[in-house]
Amino acid sequence: MPRLSLWIIRAALVYLLLGITIGSLLLAHKGIPFYPLLWGWLPAHIELLLMGWIVQLTLGVAFWILPRYWQRPRRPSEQYARIAFVLLNVGIWLVVAGTTFRAGVWVLFVGRLVEMGAVLFFAAHAWGRVVSREGA
Ligand code: HEM
Repeated sequence: MPRLSLWIIRAALVYLLLGITIGSLLLAHKGIPFYPLLWGWLPAHIELLLMGWIVQLTLGVAFWILPRYWQRPRRPSEQYARIAFVLLNVGIWLVVAGTTFRAGVWVLFVGRLVEMGAVLFFAAHAWGRVVSREGA
C-alpha cells in the first residue's frame, strides 16, 4: 500500500473512533439523559463519520487501487492527492468549528468550499488514472 494511502486510511480510522465515541455518548444520553448540551455535538458526529470516515476512506483506497498502467511504478500527479488529503481535513475541522463550536456560518461555508476543493483536487489526480488511452 502506498504511504499516502496509509496516512489517509489512518486518519479515517481516527475519525471513525471520534465519530463513534460521540455517537455512543449521544445514544447513552438518549437512554439516560446526563448532559443535554451533548446534542451540540451531533453535527460533529455526522461530519466526522460522513466526511472524515466514509469519504476519506474512499479516497485512501482509491489512491491505492485505481489503475496506473501507463505510469508504472509511480502514480500520476500524486501532489494533487496530497493537497486533497490536507484540504479535506482542514475542511472537516472548519465545518466542526462552524457548527459544534459555533464559529459561525461563514466558517461552515468556507469549510464546505475547502472540502469541495479537496474533491476537485482528488478528481484531478484520479482523472489521469481512469481515462482509457484508446479514447484519449
Ligand atoms: C459510519 C457510521 C455513522 C454515520 C455515517 C452516522 C450518521 C448519523 C447521522 C447522519 C445522524 C443524524 C440522523 C438524523 O438527523 O435523523 C446520526 C444521528 C445519530 N447517531 Fe450516528 N452515524 C454513524 C454511526 C453511529 C454509531 C456507531 C452510533 C452509536 C454508537 C451513532 C449514534 C447516533 C445517535 C445517538 C444519533 C442521534 C439520533 C437522534 O437524533 O435521535 N451513530 N448519525
